[in-house]
Amino acid sequence: QNPATQSLYDLMEKVSQYYKHQLLNHPQRQVFVDYLKQRGLSSQTIDQFDIGMAPDGWDNVLRTFGGNQQMQQQLLQGGLLIDNEKGRVYDRFRKRLMFPIRDHRGRVIGFGGRVIDPEDTPKYLNSPETPIFHKGTELYGLFRARKSNRRLQRVVIVEGYMDVVALAQHGVNNAVATLGTATTADHLRKLLRAAPEVVFCFDGDRAGRDAAWRAAENALPLLGGNHELKFCFLPDGEDPDSLVNSQGADAFNQLIENAQSFSDFFFNQLLAQVDANSIDGRARMIELAKPHLKQIPGGVYRDMIEQRLAELAKTTVATLNKHIDPASQPP
Ligand code: CTP
Ligand code: MN
Ligand code: MN
Ligand code: MN
Ligand code: MN
Repeated sequence: QNPATQSLYDLMEKVSQYYKHQLLNHPQRQVFVDYLKQRGLSSQTIDQFDIGMAPDGWDNVLRTFGGNQQMQQQLLQGGLLIDNEKGRVYDRFRKRLMFPIRDHRGRVIGFGGRVIDPEDTPKYLNSPETPIFHKGTELYGLFRARKSNRRLQRVVIVEGYMDVVALAQHGVNNAVATLGTATTADHLRKLLRAAPEVVFCFDGDRAGRDAAWRAAENALPLLGGNHELKFCFLPDGEDPDSLVNSQGADAFNQLIENAQSFSDFFFNQLLAQVDANSIDGRARMIELAKPHLKQIPGGVYRDMIEQRLAELAKTTVATLNKHIDPASQPP
């Protein structure tokens, strides 16, 4: 382990403890505590997730941890300070609830911060990419989910920190969240090493449905192994946090149990885009499917997907393959 990197981990841990300490002791803490209570979080949950607060002000972290030039440099490297064009340095996170993000070994590598005043923007602010924080591979809640159960059968991917935290409070301990980015193939590889079943459970809004399709596209190279990917759809306007708070864990678990298979989701999406009653529509469905099929690794799963596509398009796999994968044709 590179000593510079090690001390960056140490710094992140200390700052995380500082934020947590502020939530318990700062003179302005009450408005943060009230907000968390209003969101339904118990003191125990707040403590378990090490939720903290960044007080209002430009230099709380800077003054507490930036004693000399070298320490300031490290705060910058950790994404805790911003260095503007005019050479002014100030705290990135101000007047926000702070959610520490941990890596697979439980080390704090970054933060998500949420405003408590609806007038403030942006609603969520995450640490930038740093030498130890990579949004495209890290998942909020994965360390804790693995700790609560070493033999996870299933993990559920949700959109936000609040979703992970609210679910955990209701006894659902296998949820993880991406960090304000699309779900990547790297995220999925990591998750599939932790559990053989991954269920996507995004918000019941336009953004959530779009995210589900993007996740499906990114998942194509991982299909067909000894694992399953599924999709769960929440009622309009709900997210896992709102659903579990209004309807309870049983209702949420029921939705997860009834999640749609990858292939059903994929074909439903295709069928929604064409008129499958005409040759024209069915031919276009094949065209739409083509670039996706090519990304599925060759094997039983891909063969079966091709077979289903052929059925839906009222053609044969031989005809399909002639046009999808010319390289595999006999000379
Ligand atoms: N997110 C983010 N950056 C943003 C907006 C969203 O990182 N500018 C992430 C957050 O983790 C957020 C998630 O995407 O929780 C889902 O966004 P959204 O559904 O808009 O959040 P809400 O559910 O509305 O957040 P909350 O429940 O806290 O009001
Ligand atoms: Mn949403
Ligand atoms: Mn929400
Ligand atoms: Mn949401
Ligand atoms: Mn509740």
